[in-house]
Amino acid sequence: MKPLTLGIVGATGVVGQTALDILGDGSLALQIKEVRAFASVASVGKRLSWGTRAVIVEPTELDALAQCDAVLFASEAEISKRFIPELTARGILCVDKSSAFREDGDVPLVVPEVNGKLLNSAQLKKRPLVANPNCCTTPLVMVLDVLRREFGLKRVIVSTYQSVSGAGKPGLEVLEEEARQFFTAQDLSVKPSRAFPKSIAFNVMPFVAKILPNGDTDEEQKIIFETRKILDLPDLPVEATSVRVPTFVGHAESVTIETEKPVDLAKLETLIASSKGMMCVPNLNPETAAAASDADDAPDVAFFPTPRECQGRDEVLVGRLRTAKVFAHGVSLWLVSDNLRKGAALNALQVVEACAQDGFFN
Ligand SMILES: NC(=O)c1ccc[n+]([C@@H]2O[C@H](COP(=O)([O-])OP(=O)(O)OC[C@H]3O[C@@H](n4cnc5c(N)ncnc54)[C@H](OP(=O)(O)O)[C@@H]3O)[C@@H](O)[C@H]2O)c1
Repeated sequence: MKPLTLGIVGATGVVGQTALDILGDGSLALQIKEVRAFASVASVGKRLSWGTRAVIVEPTELDALAQCDAVLFASEAEISKRFIPELTARGILCVDKSSAFREDGDVPLVVPEVNGKLLNSAQLKKRPLVANPNCCTTPLVMVLDVLRREFGLKRVIVSTYQSVSGAGKPGLEVLEEEARQFFTAQDLSVKPSRAFPKSIAFNVMPFVAKILPNGDTDEEQKIIFETRKILDLPDLPVEATSVRVPTFVGHAESVTIETEKPVDLAKLETLIASSKGMMCVPNLNPETAAAASDADDAPDVAFFPTPRECQGRDEVLVGRLRTAKVFAHGVSLWLVSDNLRKGAALNALQVVEACAQDGFFN
């Protein structure tokens, strides 16, 4: 595999930094010759690192970006729209984390475990651009794809519990500031911040991004549109409610799915556990649950995953599997995933890895 020069636009942001961490881990089958970091002018000259190697932030300029083999865009959609058309015209692989091209019918929107077959070098050479989904869509479609293959999908109802890092660096800073403010000044007034329309510390908001004319938020519309596009089920009924919660990293989702066939929970558990990039946390059986709640020294009762437990992990963790009672056939479940890793940087780097393995750079 050819060693790559990989550019990261938005390298100082939470997704960009996570990409640098993953590259530093060396866990991917990617040969990297050089990483080049790009950000806004305010960050030019900052020193970042990936593993033991340092990288100095450069201004985001076409000539410098064009010296890369592949560029990961983890910045605003406007920046992607400004640079990607020229870079792809020059044959440089662009993987876009923003929403700029997700709805473009000619641009593959890819979660490698689900629709990685779209990462076909011959096709991509014509327009080397791959969009990456919203951080809630990615884990959702991974689970839905397993259900689809075995039990068939009829409809999906999902509520998300999204951490503040989904709103980038400002989201993390605001939660920290508001929490500190509460403990130092007992200030629990509800007010807007630079990241959210109302206080997020010790609060919950059924609002992510902005409200659309039909009453959905655009985050909810992204989940609906992207789920259908990735699964290639354009008519799949999907209802989404996106909620911002005061956790730092890790998004959770409560999902109820109507299926064509009855869902065998034990089989579903096995299928999820054996799927790449996913782990199933088994339900406790009633006897074990009773023993666990009676025990003085509480055993490792890991029968449901939480956002804090998925932080820093690559897998989507699934639990609380139970038969849905509102449909003839179906299942309800809970999932958590690190929104900065599988929800963002990891998925994007896995796309580059898959393209490299398919000979795109040869
Ligand atoms: N956070 C998530 O969970 C998540 C998940 C999926 C997708 N995404 C998407 O990924 C992208 C990055 O999100 P984030 O959460 O990492 O945001 P962030 O923490 O706010 O970082 C934004 C990055 O963009 C850079 N930037 C701002 N203006 C720029 C400019 N004019 N030219 C070049 N770079 C500029 C910033 O550089 P400075 O530091 O110099 O300002 C920073 O590196 C967004 O499109 C977001 O929607 C995020």
